[in-house]
Amino acid sequence: MTPDRRTVLASAAVAGLAATTTGLATPAAAEGRGDAQPRRETFGHLPDGTRVDRWTLARGGTRLAVLSYGGIVQRLETPDRHGRTANVSLGFATLEPYLTATTYFGALIGRYGNRIAGGRFTLDGTTHQLPLNDGPNSLHGGNAGFDKRVWEITPAGPAALTLHRVSPDGEMGYPGTLDVTVTYTLTDDGDFRIDYAATTDAPTVVNLTNHTYFNLAGEGTGSILDHRLEIAAARYTPVDATLIPTGELASVSGTPFDFRRGKPVGQDIRRGHPQLGHGKGFDHNLVLDKGVTRRPGHAATLHHPASGRTMTLATTEPGVQFYSGNFLDGALVGTTGNAYRQSDGLCLETQHYPDSPNQPHFPSTVLRPGQTYRSSTVHAFTTR
Ligand code: GLA
Repeated sequence: MTPDRRTVLASAAVAGLAATTTGLATPAAAEGRGDAQPRRETFGHLPDGTRVDRWTLARGGTRLAVLSYGGIVQRLETPDRHGRTANVSLGFATLEPYLTATTYFGALIGRYGNRIAGGRFTLDGTTHQLPLNDGPNSLHGGNAGFDKRVWEITPAGPAALTLHRVSPDGEMGYPGTLDVTVTYTLTDDGDFRIDYAATTDAPTVVNLTNHTYFNLAGEGTGSILDHRLEIAAARYTPVDATLIPTGELASVSGTPFDFRRGKPVGQDIRRGHPQLGHGKGFDHNLVLDKGVTRRPGHAATLHHPASGRTMTLATTEPGVQFYSGNFLDGALVGTTGNAYRQSDGLCLETQHYPDSPNQPHFPSTVLRPGQTYRSSTVHAFTTR
């Protein structure tokens, strides 16, 4: 590509014209189940000219579009009980809003998902200072975390992608060169599986997650307060006013945080519980009963009664951040042109607990040379 053409495309991207986003094209031969080989197209260009690709996968009735920028899940399409598909993840139609939004739509989050108090932690006697991008704290790896980086993407099978990136020593204040490989797979059944792996050349902390906002009615159609949510957690980590865990593992019994039997997300969201005031709704880590597991174990079920769409979440992680989209305020216009307002999507971010580097009794997030960080999460899509 000549520099001139690149400049033209870059301006087109900024003007929101570069990418066609009317669904994911699928070769006619693969229609039916919608299966297809991973397909690459140009989604836009960064201001410095770097090309951003969009990869699409389809298998078992699920279709997924992933950006090389931020490893972002840009679309995730699943059928309802009548076989009608909808894009169940919040996002944008073009690259430009992804560059500036602070919502982390669909993004691959690192090096540390969630908050670290004061953006500071001490490891082996050395104190590390991270950028403060969330009041007094560091959130989701800092102001230029993994969600703001371009990933090298290669197809890894009929419906799988490998995302790779080497995060240099000291990036966003974190010690060690971190070599990260993330695989996004659509299984035969149309489940969306994410496998994370990372190694380091110096002691560091790692907590990777994905920040997809789900709305099983389809993005841009309204609130998720009618979704039924079950979370297999008898305890949660209460937070202070800046959303840092107090250190307590509190029982969910008798609180709005009790999702063990499943209930509509909106049922208790307006209860006058002080914890709900801190994050303007649910923005809390639930302590999964199963703890850290070698294989993904049951974490949560999300069900949308009207469409029948159901997502079952399994993970190797000990926690899940349930965020009810509290900070969406109508200012961002999503993929199909509708503005996102409060609770128009929800996140279930599988993770180690927030601020673990400063809370010695939480499961450890330390990674040392010679060890491999591994984490897996499976989103299974069914209807009922
Ligand atoms: C995470 C945090 C929330 C919020 C969102 C992005 O889920 O826990 O407080 O910052 O990201 O808006």
